[in-house]
Amino acid sequence: MSQRTLVLLKPDAVRRGLVGEILGRIEKKAGWTISALELRQLDREVLEQHYAEHVGKPFYEPLVEFMASGPAVALVVEGERVIEGVRALAGPTDPIAAAPGSIRGDFGTIVRENLIHASDSAESAEREIKIFFPGLA
Ligand code: TYD
Ligand code: MG
Repeated sequence: MSQRTLVLLKPDAVRRGLVGEILGRIEKKAGWTISALELRQLDREVLEQHYAEHVGKPFYEPLVEFMASGPAVALVVEGERVIEGVRALAGPTDPIAAAPGSIRGDFGTIVRENLIHASDSAESAEREIKIFFPGLA
């Protein structure tokens, strides 16, 4: 089933020069297409919408501060089972628990600075794509 997903390469990925490496892993996956891509500074307002499910949790404020600490890369990827697929490429939230070969397992440091966001369901993907690329049909 063809799907689309919202991916963020977080400020740590940009700062550490890992954008090409991570994009390459996504781009090389057969049958997936990048249909939107932008480098941008995320502000509190966008982050509050994006992370609405986490507002009020103990890690929320430090997370927003980190996500606004420098530019990030936002992209939309389309293709066969791409929602599950990009989450699999990323690995689990905690880089220590993430297997080598996954993006977080290979490059992640601490839970907060785990390099990549990827939508977790079709509903999340549509909601998040609207936040970052409102002009996309
Ligand atoms: P979450 O949606 O649970 O993880 P994922 O990005 O894998 O979907 O959490 C969103 C982000 O919040 C996560 O990528 C890193 C940060 N975070 C923390 O800093 N501490 C935590 O304990 C958790 C669960 C997440
Ligand atoms: Mg999540």
